[in-house]
Amino acid sequence: MISFILNDRVYTTGLPPGAVTLDLIRNEAGLTGTREGCREGDCGACTVLLGVPQQQGVKYIAVNSCILPAGELQGRHLVTIEGINPEEGLSPLQQIFVEEGASQCGFCTPGLIMSLTGYLLGTVDPDDIGATGSLAGNICRCTGYVSIKKAAETVSGRIGHSPAECCSSREHLEWLVEKEILPSYFLGIAAMLQAMDATDGFDANVSGHAVTVAGGTDLFAVEAEELRNAGLRFLSRETGINGINVLENKILIGAGATVRDIIDSGIFSNLGNFEQSLELVASVQVRNRATVGGNIVNASPIGDLTIIFLALDAKLRITRGSDYREVQLKDFLRGYKVLDLSPGELLESLEYAVLDSATCINFEKVAMRKHLDIASVNTAAAFTVRGGRIEKADISAGGVAPIPLYLERTSAVLSGMKVSTDTASLAARTARSEVTPIDDVRGSAEYKKLLLGKLIAAHFVELFPQWINVEELL
Ligand SMILES: Cc1cc2nc3c(=O)[nH]c(=O)nc-3n(C[C@H](O)[C@H](O)[C@H](O)COP(=O)(O)OP(=O)(O)OC[C@H]3O[C@@H](n4cnc5c(N)ncnc54)[C@H](O)[C@@H]3O)c2cc1C
Ligand code: FES
Ligand code: FES
Repeated sequence: MISFILNDRVYTTGLPPGAVTLDLIRNEAGLTGTREGCREGDCGACTVLLGVPQQQGVKYIAVNSCILPAGELQGRHLVTIEGINPEEGLSPLQQIFVEEGASQCGFCTPGLIMSLTGYLLGTVDPDDIGATGSLAGNICRCTGYVSIKKAAETVSGRIGHSPAECCSSREHLEWLVEKEILPSYFLGIAAMLQAMDATDGFDANVSGHAVTVAGGTDLFAVEAEELRNAGLRFLSRETGINGINVLENKILIGAGATVRDIIDSGIFSNLGNFEQSLELVASVQVRNRATVGGNIVNASPIGDLTIIFLALDAKLRITRGSDYREVQLKDFLRGYKVLDLSPGELLESLEYAVLDSATCINFEKVAMRKHLDIASVNTAAAFTVRGGRIEKADISAGGVAPIPLYLERTSAVLSGMKVSTDTASLAARTARSEVTPIDDVRGSAEYKKLLLGKLIAAHFVELFPQWINVEELL
């Protein structure tokens, strides 16, 4: 049995842990305000909030219920659109959508309202950019995005700033209740969750070889039916796998850390454009769940995090029970979906060295659209430069080989070279000759090679504008 709080009351279901939360909400609980669109995490129509108890308070995140397995709900708070409706009339967010004409057929509106509510729960300092950005994972097919954007901006302008210091604090919830964004029952949820045992009576159906579920954003986007009755191991329920630690000369990231955890931790804030690049991975809902470990083990040739950690020359720690071994990420990826990982082994964490001040880095990604899309080609680069010469280069590229590729030859050829337009051209040429892309929906092999060359050149233009003649390079 799985027990959790659904809106304002305790709810118990006999559905298996691999059942999809969207089906539980609509078909079992009969709450049809949450919409079913793509069932792949792509449209945001099914957005709900997941409240996870913390040492103090509850942390709420917006998630796509169509790719959220029900086992993740045990001992947590699930909030659907019905759970934020006031007893009478419209909530301030709903009212603003009406005023701005931001809803026509209304199919996408519950998802949009839930995403905005998730944003307000997750910040004490709302602003226009954050409010609009929180909607990047919600697709609307009939209202213009201009009025939806205006509604988001009106929300942040009208609501003001929370007096709380931390968004999972009671003070922040009290402020949102006072603003009528949330009903008052939210104030009692932390105590209700504390009274429930987070695991009591919960059986993840683990027998024999269980499938490891981290964020489930890959697994449940493609294999939800197959996983419904499978044995599942939920990493989010295991301690010690999702922390982020800054040590004296290295950064240690638990494999269960999410993209959002990395952004919130600030560890990428001094790493070139890496932090802004993470803001373009998928959508808020996916970033709230997608983990580092899932990105690497999924072994997609275009995984953004894998490309970034290849350029940081990350080392992985793999465990089996109390045994462990270490392997460089570039050696871990062996062939299309082939990894140096045996059944029963777990990717526990990765680490990379703190970069010295002479190292600069950059990430480039071209996708069919800016938000909510995986790359056609992506690449990351780290250059250590002293006295105008490249001492060391680590360059990676995705979408141009069966695996996310560490560009061995390109990285090596740059060692000792002066930073110049000629060197940038050489890097682009070498990279093009080092890859073996295929024709697919994201472009022809020839296009991807060409694109990679341009993106390698872009690293130089972005990082060394004083030494590069852009016109000559193009
Ligand atoms: C709408 C949408 C948009 C997306 N956009 C992007 C994008 O822009 N960029 C991008 O890079 N990705 C994108 N993705 C893909 C996906 O979100 C990422 O790859 C994500 O990082 C996967 O992590 P997860 O925790 O959800 O993995 P899961 O789905 O939980 O797991 C993936 C695989 O890894 C295994 N696994 C997970 N953790 C471990 C571990 N610690 N040890 C051993 N095995 C493990 C699982 O068993 C499974 O086989 C998108 C996905 C969706 C649905
Ligand atoms: S139904 Fe489209 S994201 Fe869930
Ligand atoms: S209002 Fe119709 S899909 Fe958005």
